[in-house]
Amino acid sequence: MATVRVGPPRRPLAGSFGVPGDKSIAHRALLLGGLADGVTTVLGFPRGADVLSSLGAVRALGARVDELPDDALRIEGCGHALGGGPATIDCGNSGTTMRLTAGLVAGGGGTVVLDGDASLRRRPMERVADPLRAMGAGVETTDGHAPLTVRGAALRGIEWTLPVASAQVKSAILLAGLRAHGTTRVREPLPSRDHTERLLGHMGVRLARDAAGVAIAGEQRLRGGDISLPGDCSSAAFLVVAALVVPGSELHLTDIGVNPTRTGALAILRRMGGAIDVTKTHDVAGEPRAELHVRAARLRGTHVTPGEVPGTIDELPILAIAAALADGETTITGAAELRVKESDRIAALEQLARLGVGVRATPDGLSIHGRGGRPLVGGRVETHGDHRIAMAFAVAGLVAEDGVEIDGAECADVSFPGFYARLAELGAQVERG
Ligand code: S3P
Repeated sequence: MATVRVGPPRRPLAGSFGVPGDKSIAHRALLLGGLADGVTTVLGFPRGADVLSSLGAVRALGARVDELPDDALRIEGCGHALGGGPATIDCGNSGTTMRLTAGLVAGGGGTVVLDGDASLRRRPMERVADPLRAMGAGVETTDGHAPLTVRGAALRGIEWTLPVASAQVKSAILLAGLRAHGTTRVREPLPSRDHTERLLGHMGVRLARDAAGVAIAGEQRLRGGDISLPGDCSSAAFLVVAALVVPGSELHLTDIGVNPTRTGALAILRRMGGAIDVTKTHDVAGEPRAELHVRAARLRGTHVTPGEVPGTIDELPILAIAAALADGETTITGAAELRVKESDRIAALEQLARLGVGVRATPDGLSIHGRGGRPLVGGRVETHGDHRIAMAFAVAGLVAEDGVEIDGAECADVSFPGFYARLAELGAQVERG
């Protein structure tokens, strides 16, 4: 297990650059590209471990995928023949690969076994197995967890209301619905990210969307095409907070995805006093992208409400670091989902106490007493194999006297290959132990 120590930079952070392509959209581009008729070309493929799991999955299901120079991919779609045979797929650390693939193969002709690493084997899978069974697929979990066996079958459309907003479960049902007989309707208590809906639309599928959810008519075919990925706004969020908390910093981030179902953290950071400008917004392949300009600012605590959680779910770890440096108290409520991510993120964030921060965990959130701009105390933390915990504490290291030692730091590669190198380029002290 690699240890990385991140310490304060020798100068304020400055520069203009992009971040790796959007992981969420990349998974979908691979899986939908495999299911499409014709060739799909993906530009800006990020090559983190998670999306490589989806690349392996779509190949195991029968599609040919060629990796081209300059972060491009070429996928030869199999149409609805995808996943017609037996396959065993290692989803690694990736919940998105496992849950979306389960939906994708539910309407195919094969039996597919989906497994993953120790973290993924701990995550709940009945939430996706249940609706797929209701549609007619044979799905067995291992006590509610992976390994998961999905026996493809002729599916029928269903109406399904998710108890908790989840883009992964919604997407699994929509992908199954695409091959089902009749219409499938999914409702959510709060809107989750809508990349699947946007990409399906971009690939020629008709969907009906309203405030309560989405409906898809079955037996539709996908048309392959070009998909250009914006920079991942969840990856950008680590650099946004870094620029806000390191005094004197100013960063310009180019070509970042600003889909409104993903940018909750930017709104919350602005409310905390963050100086973040979003300019040059334009759409490519149905997804908005923009430039972000961020300047260091004194932050104040805030209340993150349950309604804000789905739009900021992956950014809550880095928001906790912003909160740790702010004036006053920050509370996060209605975020019990954090307990079933790549790690129990609420428990992992309690390690802020090791850096001199007053922190209290609740069953569904955290309350954090900010240090009012005073630096953090240096210390040692564990990532529990969770990429976002690793990167959040690395940003904490930028403003910690003596830095932060991160055990199990290598998992940052799951979503942001080159993250520590980027911090080092910006002048941070980065030492690999
Ligand atoms: C994702 C959805 C979210 C998010 C995950 C990626 C996706 O999970 O936390 O990192 O790509 O659909 P849930 O759908 O479980 O909320």
